Amino acid sequence: MAKIGDIDVGEFPLLLAPMEDVSDPPFRALCKEQGADVVYTEFISSEGLIRDAAKSVMKLDIYEKERPVGIQIFGANLESMLQSVEIVEKSGPDIIDINFGCPVKKVVSKGAGAGILKDIDLMVSLTDAMVKHTKLPVTVKTRLGWDHDSIKILEVAERLQDVGCKAISIHGRTRAQMYKGEADWAPIAEVKNNPRMHIPVFGNGDVDTPERAMEMRDKFGLDGAMIGRASIGYPWFFREVKHYFETGEHLAPPNLQERVEAARRHLQMSIDWKGEKLGVFETRRHYTNYFKGIPHFKEYRMKMVTSDDAADVFAAFDEVEKEFAGFEFA
Ligand SMILES: Cc1cc2nc3c(=O)[nH]c(=O)nc-3n(C[C@H](O)[C@H](O)[C@H](O)COP(=O)(O)O)c2cc1C
Repeated sequence: MAKIGDIDVGEFPLLLAPMEDVSDPPFRALCKEQGADVVYTEFISSEGLIRDAAKSVMKLDIYEKERPVGIQIFGANLESMLQSVEIVEKSGPDIIDINFGCPVKKVVSKGAGAGILKDIDLMVSLTDAMVKHTKLPVTVKTRLGWDHDSIKILEVAERLQDVGCKAISIHGRTRAQMYKGEADWAPIAEVKNNPRMHIPVFGNGDVDTPERAMEMRDKFGLDGAMIGRASIGYPWFFREVKHYFETGEHLAPPNLQERVEAARRHLQMSIDWKGEKLGVFETRRHYTNYFKGIPHFKEYRMKMVTSDDAADVFAAFDEVEKEFAGFEFA
């Protein structure tokens, strides 16, 4: 059984990765329904939170049904991070996660995200201060290192554990790799196999089939799998992995009805949560995957992604439901 602090997250939990503009409350709720054991918010700027920037604050919303949920924050300034911990706590998350892995320039250039991999002492002292500042379990998500020549994840994980970090999720790439190449899980397994480590070590990067998830569990011996891209527009990935673990067999993919229903609920929840304009806009990225495999789908997809009017998008769902009833997904 894996535990994050006092939270029992089950045996080999599947975690929904934090993903900007993806891991919002509606999507997290859908993933939770389909078997995600822990869900994370997208990263939230500590500087934005303390300025009370509306966009950052809105990202703190959580639904009861998605628990346990971790709110992920990023920043490099101790004072701002501590203040943002206090703000985050008011939303009542189960976990506070620190992003020490984001590779994008605008974040890294401020020393935040993966930028901190160049200053391990700061990474440790920030974590230390945050752990001391909250009663909630603090977890860290990071990468293997800054670049291939500076992989110090073994030392980093130990030091984070020593200051009270309750779990670590490691993306098997360096910052220099961004998203290129294949994620390397061997260094993550080294962290796990370090006899001094006792907190859960979750693997991340390229878990895109149930077999890969099983490999992460059985061959690499990690404590859980954090799943990102494979779930975008495909929340069923979680239940497919679980089914495979339980039976050794592949679950049939969701049928058209289920996909249309998920798209409808996703859009409706998004509209309820952030209003029609943003709800319609931000749900668009999921449709390609929801309906992947349907031939000559472009015409319908265009209807879904070009109108700002929710009624048009719902009408497109109805059309797809009628037009492709009985379509067999591979
Ligand atoms: C669209 C997108 C947004 C992301 N945003 C975040 C983020 O906000 N915080 C974070 O820690 N990682 C973020 N990531 C990285 C993912 O959490 C994950 O580490 C990465 O996608 C590798 O896992 P995967 O191969 O399962 O997708 C993002 C990735 C994607 C594709």
